Amino acid sequence: MSAALTTISLADEAATEALGRRLAGCVRITQLIFLRGELGAGKTTLCRGFLRGLGYQGLVKSPTYTLCETYRVADVQCLHCDFYRLSHPEEMEYLGLREQFDANRVLLIEWPEIATQILPPPDLDITLSFAATGRIAELRAGTPRGESVIPALGTGGDSISKSHVS
Ligand SMILES: Nc1ncnc2c1ncn2[C@@H]1O[C@H](COP(=O)(O)OP(=O)(O)O)[C@@H](O)[C@H]1O
Ligand SMILES: [Mg+2]
Repeated sequence: MSAALTTISLADEAATEALGRRLAGCVRITQLIFLRGELGAGKTTLCRGFLRGLGYQGLVKSPTYTLCETYRVADVQCLHCDFYRLSHPEEMEYLGLREQFDANRVLLIEWPEIATQILPPPDLDITLSFAATGRIAELRAGTPRGESVIPALGTGGDSISKSHVS
């Protein structure tokens, strides 16, 4: 979709969580978010912020072993998945993810690489990486809905830059 890249500096864990919260503010226009990045980059932290932003107060576990955790918050159903342990796309067929798309549902997927051939393009494709201090988040929109989310996120006090990559 768009070649625009938005880069956000996340100084500490609270900033990663706060970005998740701001994303949750756009839940009505986002259905699918990919979270890429090495182990420890902050993917689960961002998901925790997202769920907190929806109003979920309980524990947010990493779904590394369960593959997917489902949360219902008000009228929104949120699936938080982690496909790190999958090695073949067929292994995720039984999760029925293709049937999971509807207006009140949002999927956040850590390690989405294995699923990219099965799932539609994500509204937002986010890559987290380690910086000298803190983390860097790179956001790319994969759909027109995702394009509208990025400017609506605001900065939350983080430093943000935009660039175009070909
Ligand atoms: N912006 C940040 N700066 C410093 N540490 C962070 C930041 N965001 C998250 N962390 C820390 O990184 C660690 C790993 O985060 P986690 O979300 O479990 O990573 P992942 O799901 O990508 O493996 C946690 O201890 C978390 O507190
Ligand atoms: Mg994780």
